[in-house]
Amino acid sequence: MARASQHDAWQAGDNYDRYMGRWSRQVAPRFLDWLHPARGLDWVDVGCGTGALSAAIVAGYDPKSLIGLDPSEGFLEKARLNVPDPRVEFRVGDAQMLAMPSQAADIVVSGLMLNFVPRREEALREMARVARPGGRVAFYVWDYPSGGVEFMRAFWTIAVDLDPAAQDLTENRRFPFCTRDNLAHLARQSGLAEVEDEEIEIATRFENFDDFWRPFTLGTGPAPAYCANLPADRRRKLREKLKANLPYADDGSIPFKARAWAVRGRAVE
Ligand SMILES: C[S@@+](CC[C@H](N)C(=O)[O-])C[C@H]1O[C@@H](n2cnc3c(N)ncnc32)[C@H](O)[C@@H]1O
Repeated sequence: MARASQHDAWQAGDNYDRYMGRWSRQVAPRFLDWLHPARGLDWVDVGCGTGALSAAIVAGYDPKSLIGLDPSEGFLEKARLNVPDPRVEFRVGDAQMLAMPSQAADIVVSGLMLNFVPRREEALREMARVARPGGRVAFYVWDYPSGGVEFMRAFWTIAVDLDPAAQDLTENRRFPFCTRDNLAHLARQSGLAEVEDEEIEIATRFENFDDFWRPFTLGTGPAPAYCANLPADRRRKLREKLKANLPYADDGSIPFKARAWAVRGRAVE
């Protein structure tokens, strides 16, 4: 396994929620506002993780059914607790080979997942296959290449200062294809029609340094896995340097922002 993917460490649902889930829960409703779907649809949420997007669908769009798919049983367990609803089912699945019949859903979506899939075009083709003709296929990912997730960029900038070898683990190095234009192009290449893209920006404000630092010590996600695996003395140095260099507001909070790119299209027959 490549060093980078070893460090992705997608298992512990609680820890993911403390690191990224708190922010992905804010992006999901904004993405759904933009999609503006009808109520009563059959949905599939690919790479559902702990259920941030699925929960927003249930809360706002009264689905007829919703199937959430993810390879991580640990995340699915948490998703089942987060979204207890008889219309919703969470199953193990891989985006590149959806174990679902063709034309089974009205709308197939994916939140913050596509960059982790090696064969992205294949994943989008699979999403289109599962959607009914004319049905929506849509996704969003963080804007990694231009440092759009500011708190992550701040972490890695200092981490790489102290350990240049960590550069290969940074999301801007690993996911350079996550630009707005590339993602829309990928959707068209994958056979989607009527492709449109949108920017979604949210505030990711940390109350204080501990609120920023603690999720990085929990080990779930690329940066936390790197941080948690550092020897204690190096982790202490990283903590001290971050603490001294973050852009604090007057009240001690840290007002970062995070940007995602959203893309939507339609499945053709
Ligand atoms: C950043 S999390 C996003 C989870 C959730 N959609 C959200 O918005 O919070 C990325 C998710 O992609 C999943 N994932 C990674 N590789 C995948 C694949 N090949 N097929 C489906 N999901 C995958 C991970 O298990 C993880 O749950």
